[in-house]
Amino acid sequence: MKKIIFAIFLCSTLLLASSKDNTIEQKIDSLLTLMTLDEKIGQLTQYSGNYETGPSAGTVKNEFQKLVKEGKVGSFLNVHGATNTHEMQKIAVEQSRLKIPLLFGYDVIHGYRTTFPIPLAEASSWDPQAVEKSARISAIEAAAAGVHWTFAPMVDIARDPRWGRIAEGSGEDPYLGSAMAAARVKGFQGNSYGEKGTILSCAKHFAAYGGAEGGRDYNTVDMSERTLREIYLLPYKAAVDAGAATIMSSFNEIAGVPSTGSKFLLTDVLRKEWHFDGFVVSDWTSIPEMHTHGVAANDAESAMLALNAGTDMDMEGGVYRKHLPQLLKEGKVSEQTLNEAVRRILRVKLRLGLFADPYRNASPEAEKKDIYNAAHIAATRDVARKSIVLLKNEKDILPLKKEIKTLAVVGPLANNTEEPLGPWHQQGRPSDVVTVLDGITKTVSSDTKILFAKGCDIVGNDTKGFDEAVSIAKKSDVVIVVVGEAAEMSGEAASRSSLTLPGKQEKFVEAIQATGTPVVVVLMNGRPLAVTWIAEHVSAIVEAWFLGVQSGNAIADVLFGEYTPSGKLPVTFPRTVGQVPYYYNYKNTGRPMDEKQKYNSKYIDISNTPLFPFGYGLSYTTFEYSSPRLSASKITKKESLKVVVDVKNIGRRAGEEVVQLYIRDEYGSVTRPVKELKGFQKIALVPGEKKSVEFTLTPELLSMYDINMKWGVEAGTFKVYVGTNSVDVQEASFEVSEL
Ligand code: GLC
Repeated sequence: MKKIIFAIFLCSTLLLASSKDNTIEQKIDSLLTLMTLDEKIGQLTQYSGNYETGPSAGTVKNEFQKLVKEGKVGSFLNVHGATNTHEMQKIAVEQSRLKIPLLFGYDVIHGYRTTFPIPLAEASSWDPQAVEKSARISAIEAAAAGVHWTFAPMVDIARDPRWGRIAEGSGEDPYLGSAMAAARVKGFQGNSYGEKGTILSCAKHFAAYGGAEGGRDYNTVDMSERTLREIYLLPYKAAVDAGAATIMSSFNEIAGVPSTGSKFLLTDVLRKEWHFDGFVVSDWTSIPEMHTHGVAANDAESAMLALNAGTDMDMEGGVYRKHLPQLLKEGKVSEQTLNEAVRRILRVKLRLGLFADPYRNASPEAEKKDIYNAAHIAATRDVARKSIVLLKNEKDILPLKKEIKTLAVVGPLANNTEEPLGPWHQQGRPSDVVTVLDGITKTVSSDTKILFAKGCDIVGNDTKGFDEAVSIAKKSDVVIVVVGEAAEMSGEAASRSSLTLPGKQEKFVEAIQATGTPVVVVLMNGRPLAVTWIAEHVSAIVEAWFLGVQSGNAIADVLFGEYTPSGKLPVTFPRTVGQVPYYYNYKNTGRPMDEKQKYNSKYIDISNTPLFPFGYGLSYTTFEYSSPRLSASKITKKESLKVVVDVKNIGRRAGEEVVQLYIRDEYGSVTRPVKELKGFQKIALVPGEKKSVEFTLTPELLSMYDINMKWGVEAGTFKVYVGTNSVDVQEASFEVSEL
């Protein structure tokens, strides 16, 4: 009986959903018959409102209300705040002819006002639930402010830390990146479209924007289709599978074709293979930039290329509104193509419920209740603690005792309220930031003497402040040195040719180290840094990235043991920029690195190992791993394999461990990476506790693109690696047979 009831429920749910979709499509059909050409092109046009986030395209600022009334605007970005959005929406839904609501987009990358850790920091938590919660809260705050749509998650794989936008993504690995992409989409959008406090997501920048040569932003991308599909496309696919409502096309070309005009990417892969039915928005003026790329002789050709490829909405480029009428007249763009682009945008607006409720509960009252409240502040502190990675802890100098007698806190980022917000912090306020000095002061005992000196700036050659910092370090039991980058040294248009600490900061650390007082370095940065000298000389290193408004509290929680660090690096730290690109899932080559031999793939002037490897992070306790146990030594191509490993906390403190599972397909019809992450689980263990952690390697996880670019499992021998990072692992082997 129960089965019958469930079947009826399932069918009615599916019927309801499909009937809802049918209703939406029917509504779009009727709107399309009513819309003029101007109104259709209006839906494809997005203007930037309050301020620019890119080079201005000469947008018509003072005509906005007139254009909205005439139905010539589909969306705004950078218009936010319940009052601002309400004012513009009211014109659209009351004064325009067809009353089609506007879509308000904004870059809610890691928080609206409650600023969370930058995405690269959150990825260091290896905790999709925590990341989903961060996106959830960001959505609630943005929705209260009248924002309908965020240009996030940024899911670009980045293997080159010179690229500033590595800060906005989840690092170098497609498996971890896919988990984070899905978590963020679910966090932003909730479980179903249109729920209160949700906003549309936008997976960006499609595609392979992080593959820019030289790590130079906007630069040329040239890679094989196999690398594109096996590494760079996977997180976008994960976002689409998680229900991402929109996709943003990227500035870059891939092998000669700018993404914004790539039919292969935007139609063949995205729609025909992945069945994506949302819409694609260009990046800021990326449509007219195809003229600059050199694939369009003018803006009209750029518009034609983009729309025919599958870019539905023109962000601030102004070329759809100017050129589509003539392109349609000349038959260079068909009415059908135009209607399909309009349909996709209207579909998303209808799914979001905008026609039924164009103001979506945004109001000054909602802003007061839902933005930057105590629950959100507490949540961001929790996510921030989980995002911290302990890189070194010699002689267990950490955690410090709260009763420490004299503590020096020095460095340009020790008492800084601006930089911890990180790039793309939008409505985040320096006045909300808890600095490291604040956090430590609130944590230590009332008898502790805290001494502060800035010592130097982030940039520049001034070392006059060294002496003061050195003198207080000499008087202290421990010195905390907080160094790193300025927030705007990562993010968009912020590539660096060097990975060292900017300015005189490294010299500053050396001067403090020379005092002989034990040193703890706290790094605040938006990319891996080649802090080789520090790694070789300083007792402890804490990677804190940019943690947002609760930076100081989260860092103090870790420094004084309120929270045992559990973060793991989502990206490799090279020893020097000369090693870049350096990533863990590299190919073996015919002459793999062997420092004892001459004729092999290495640099002669440096160790070829990373400074800190992918997946690396220490704890205040120690975890012991058993050898992995496999459910079989041989499986067929269609079978799955279970891998079990026992993990025991053999230390004196409770802690969390990210258990990582890698494979190596030893021989294939094409070369395979020496390791590939195929599973991770974050577990908590009290001292003495042991847990068995089980992974399942499915045929999908063992699949690859073979010599003919056919996706599937190839017979042969595989290695399995399980461990605490991508280097310290225990291994086992199994075989896949043809049948
Ligand atoms: C920028 C960025 C993109 C952002 C958009 C709107 O140029 O590339 O990530 O979402 O413009 O601000």
